[in-house]
Amino acid sequence: MATSTASTETRSAQLQELARKHLWMHFTRMGGYDDEHPIPIIERGEGPYVWDVEGNRYLDGLSGLFCSNIGHGRTEIGEAMARQVAELDFTTNWSYAHPRAIELAARIAELAPGDLNHVFFTSGGSEAVESALKLARQYFRLQGKGQKHKVIAREIAYHGTSMGALSATGLTPLRAPFEPFAPGGCHVPNTNEYRWPEDRDPLWAADKIAERIEFEGPETVAAVILEPVQNAGGCFTPQEGYFQRVREICDEYDVLLISDEVICAWGRIGYYFGCERYGYQPDLITTAKGITSAYAPMGALIASDKVFEPFSEGTNSFVHGFTFAGHPVAAAAALANLDIFEREDICGHVREREAEFRQMLEGLRDIPIVGDVRGAGFFHAIELVKDQETKETFNDEESEWLLRGFLSGELYRRGLICRADDRGDPVVQLSPPLICDTEQFEEIEGVLRPVLEEAWQKVQARG
Ligand SMILES: Cc1ncc(COP(=O)(O)O)c(C=O)c1O
Repeated sequence: MATSTASTETRSAQLQELARKHLWMHFTRMGGYDDEHPIPIIERGEGPYVWDVEGNRYLDGLSGLFCSNIGHGRTEIGEAMARQVAELDFTTNWSYAHPRAIELAARIAELAPGDLNHVFFTSGGSEAVESALKLARQYFRLQGKGQKHKVIAREIAYHGTSMGALSATGLTPLRAPFEPFAPGGCHVPNTNEYRWPEDRDPLWAADKIAERIEFEGPETVAAVILEPVQNAGGCFTPQEGYFQRVREICDEYDVLLISDEVICAWGRIGYYFGCERYGYQPDLITTAKGITSAYAPMGALIASDKVFEPFSEGTNSFVHGFTFAGHPVAAAAALANLDIFEREDICGHVREREAEFRQMLEGLRDIPIVGDVRGAGFFHAIELVKDQETKETFNDEESEWLLRGFLSGELYRRGLICRADDRGDPVVQLSPPLICDTEQFEEIEGVLRPVLEEAWQKVQARG
């Protein structure tokens, strides 16, 4: 812990007051802060670490929000952005192009698997998903199949917060306050086999997609949207053959397969794109976050030749766009980020080190509260249970007490930023910067172990 001087204390208190008065934070219970429960104010970052305004250091075990992939403080990205400002601060992608957007689009097309050759920039993930859903509708409309508008997504999956993306998001508490939204969102079971009966067919969840398409009527379904590894619920990995079966289903029913890689691209699971890890070819990829390693806001929708084709003919155009999408300064940041990815073989590093990261987490299974450890690459979750044998989970009140009443605060107090989440069953999620190594894995364990042990003691004490 840093020793606070009087002036840091005053500054910290001033920022607290201003934040509570004026900064409306996202997905945040603004009424939950008081002198005992201050707002965490992060002021500085370097490598895998960040420091709060009082000088305390934290391991950024969540990479900001699954996005600071190359770590903090890479001033060469800032220099590339400054050079871009000196050359051209802004021009739009609406009917104009500029060199950085062109270079970045070409580079992404080169990296993306198969014929995913056409890059439509956005300013973030929700915009990428929103764009994909609109593109799928217009794509079919251009072919005289205008009835095709529905999207099939998975339960508990998060695909963003704009009204269209929200229709795909499968989290009831995030949907309920805003209904009705864009019609056509349908949900199928996810791949969380920790909660499956042991004898269930491994392709059960994939086949549920076919059943749902049949139920809705294939002539009404435009797209299936899936993450390579589903974040919400706690890093659900696919069963062997899952995506191959989904690809077959999409082809059979003339439905577009959207791989939502807002988190899973850019090395998070060891490859530039998550679909490469599981060997499937989507029609569309949505991405954001790690595309710039969060040095600038940016997202993208990457489309196959097949999807692009009808838009390249005659007077057709995708009648959709955002002012800041493909912003030159963000594109310059993304290019500099990809230079670092190449130079430091970031994806190779994740593939090489993920077993060690996983082994450290697996090593926590001797703590009775640890029910499951799952994930891929540098993207893992620990599911917490009341009983390892029966897999009994916590009810809402217990989960609230465990996650928000104890774990979140205690992990942070001890210097680890990660996510204690109960959008499905309670989990602790880790998604550290992709530059992390043995030293950081040991640090994560050094915080997680005593805190989970204490959590278990508290669970027992409550009876
Ligand atoms: C899979 C997925 N899709 C979409 C989004 C929305 O991205 P954004 O917050 O940049 O709008 C997220 C955000 O976490 C995500 O994880």
